[in-house]
Amino acid sequence: MLACVDDYRRAARARLARIAWDYLEGAAEDGDSMRAARSSYGRWQFLPRVLADVSDCSLSASIWDRESAAPMIVGPTGLNGLFWPKADEVLAAAAAEARLPFVVSTAATSLLEDVRAAAPDADLWLQLYVQRDRAIAEDMMRRASEAMFSTLVLTVDTPVHGNRDHDVRNGFRLPLRPSAKLLLDCVRHPGWSCQMLRHGVPQLRNIAKSVGEAANLDRQAALLSRQMDLALQWSDLAWIRRHWRGRVVVKGILNADDAILARDAGADGIVLSNHGGRQLASAPAPLDVLPEIHRLVGRDLRIFVDGGARRGSDVVKAVSLGATAVLLGRAPLYGLAARGKGGVAHVLALMKAEMNTTMMLLGRTRVDNLNRECVQPSGASLAEMD
Ligand code: GLV
Repeated sequence: MLACVDDYRRAARARLARIAWDYLEGAAEDGDSMRAARSSYGRWQFLPRVLADVSDCSLSASIWDRESAAPMIVGPTGLNGLFWPKADEVLAAAAAEARLPFVVSTAATSLLEDVRAAAPDADLWLQLYVQRDRAIAEDMMRRASEAMFSTLVLTVDTPVHGNRDHDVRNGFRLPLRPSAKLLLDCVRHPGWSCQMLRHGVPQLRNIAKSVGEAANLDRQAALLSRQMDLALQWSDLAWIRRHWRGRVVVKGILNADDAILARDAGADGIVLSNHGGRQLASAPAPLDVLPEIHRLVGRDLRIFVDGGARRGSDVVKAVSLGATAVLLGRAPLYGLAARGKGGVAHVLALMKAEMNTTMMLLGRTRVDNLNRECVQPSGASLAEMD
């Protein structure tokens, strides 16, 4: 019986080939940014109220004009087809059924249009990487807009690829080159290998669609190795606005001055994120910078937090400290990699159930009533992940 996200983590690890698991779980250098994001949740504890009539508890949260079942968002992750066939469609359908938004990555392995077709009612957001050839980003924005995506999430913490030893060791690049090590890895994980053989090696299909087949493989490799537009700067939000009419959220902020610049440049929201610990090593935990950034720009912007949440109680802590919602990256992917759509649905249901229990034990029955009075520093941190 899988009872929590960490159980799904172990099941995902057992099923995936090493090359896929390392890509999912891996972080930059010695993993300290990733551990910081996770352990930051342990530095807060709850201050419960009792006898507060918790007979009618709701997790419902409004993220702008749309009501979500909970303040959680299935976050953007690339190359999801490495974990399950039609992974982005599966994530979108599970998110829609859970009534949560889903952010589709530029590095998705399904077409934006197919993700929309798989989840007609989903609140879909587009995560955008801006490569040197800006025509790709412009075409992605046009296609997402035609597919009725509501929100654009501009990722700004990836001018270059983070230092990821595991990808170097595994020879992780596009196109993937066969090797004895890869063959052995496949033999050891027959369920995963058969699935890959049946459905083919996943491709970054939106790049092909937006640049044309001729340049396809080169451009996919360029995206995977992050050959981004190095000249991207705050004034380029005006360029985004010319191509995107919906809301714009800037993802990858950890510094209060940048939060102010994002507000002044006209962003509707920001995501505090260290990219799951995959980019800059020794970066702070998003939760640790939240209170100060909320104090500075919380009245002007929606603030989202990304990275390290594995429990519903983590979501309650982030919202108490000022987050509008929490982006879930690895947690739904553990569900996906272990059991496909049922796994994603169960992970989301588990986190909602944990959140519900936490709120009732905390004596708060509405997300709007979560605030700084609900938490205090604990002086401890969660045990480091293995
Ligand atoms: C994708 O964004 C990654 O960090 O690999």
